[in-house]
Amino acid sequence: MLYKLLVRPVLSLFPPESSTGVLLRMLKGARRLPLVAPIIRAGHRVKDKSLEKEVFGIRFSAPVGVAAGLDRSGEYADLFSDFGFSFIEIGSLTPLPQDVEPRPRVFTLPRDKALLSRTGNPNKGVQQAISVLSRRNPNPRTPIRIGVNISANARSLTDEAIVSDYRTSFAQMYDFADFFVVNLTDSRRPDAGLQADTDLMSEVLDELLEMRLVYDGYKPILLKISSDLMPDLLDTILDYALLSGIDGIVAGGPAGRSAELKTSPQRLQELGEGGISGRPAFQGMLETVRHISARSKGRLPVVACGGILSPEDAEMALEAGASLVEVYSAIWYQGPKIAKKTHDHILHLHDR
Ligand SMILES: Cc1cc2nc3c(=O)[nH]c(=O)nc-3n(C[C@H](O)[C@H](O)[C@H](O)COP(=O)(O)O)c2cc1C
Repeated sequence: MLYKLLVRPVLSLFPPESSTGVLLRMLKGARRLPLVAPIIRAGHRVKDKSLEKEVFGIRFSAPVGVAAGLDRSGEYADLFSDFGFSFIEIGSLTPLPQDVEPRPRVFTLPRDKALLSRTGNPNKGVQQAISVLSRRNPNPRTPIRIGVNISANARSLTDEAIVSDYRTSFAQMYDFADFFVVNLTDSRRPDAGLQADTDLMSEVLDELLEMRLVYDGYKPILLKISSDLMPDLLDTILDYALLSGIDGIVAGGPAGRSAELKTSPQRLQELGEGGISGRPAFQGMLETVRHISARSKGRLPVVACGGILSPEDAEMALEAGASLVEVYSAIWYQGPKIAKKTHDHILHLHDR
């Protein structure tokens, strides 16, 4: 309530990317003051054994996490933990820092409860993430699982360079990840990315799977796909995942422009190209989750991501076969309380 009445109206005066960054930095600063973190935790963390889940060999304290793109280097992981999220996908991380798309590149579509983005994965590179994560001093009583989402640098254009980028990020981040998410999507063009070139995709993934054999400690590898892939392409990716030993799927990234929108065509034309997150991504996500569960006969755990804006949406995604859910747009539209509200809702369902 406080977020919707007071915080979001102020944030809406500025471009979403800047205002979210300012808000996160302010909260992180405030968290250093005495009692602030315990107060946030007391108001947001829902501790209950029945919320706990083991998925792809990892114990999660609850099913709601933060999707990739909000915290690229892991600076806010412990803040999100205080707000009740049980895991976060940091990144997308690339070996070298990059920031290629001009701003503004994230826009709100309030009539659709959506965000339009073409960020092109700006991030400070793996070395910065390593330096942030190695300085962390997490509260052992409120662990947050770290998923490291990896991608290739935009300037890596040849197949060799792309494979090498994924290898580098995977190797360097291995000790800092609880699990990996290989980002097969392209935030600027939902129909592009590694998912559109399955030969290159399998070349990258074969390398990572082979590298994992020689490392200490098994780190699950998940694939992140868009939820509006052509059915044949989706099945090719799923068959590869099932045969090769991929541990799970994050479904999915932002939807394409084919999503039905209430925002006027003129406004969309003004804003230009980009992927659509939030409400318009929900239906496609749900169908994709159902399809993955059916085709894999439940053998590929799914993290549902796309348009989950309320506890009821999360409930539907879990019922469709997802093991975990993650949110991005909901944090913009509803505030960080979405994790607590969803966990309370799930407990209420358990009680019925
Ligand atoms: C501004 C913005 C930046 C994003 N950056 C990334 C990214 O770097 N890597 C990634 O895999 N997904 C990225 N995403 C996609 C989100 O992780 C998520 O898949 C998408 O927003 C759908 O979820 P939602 O409807 O809950 O927002 C980004 C989304 C937005 C809106």
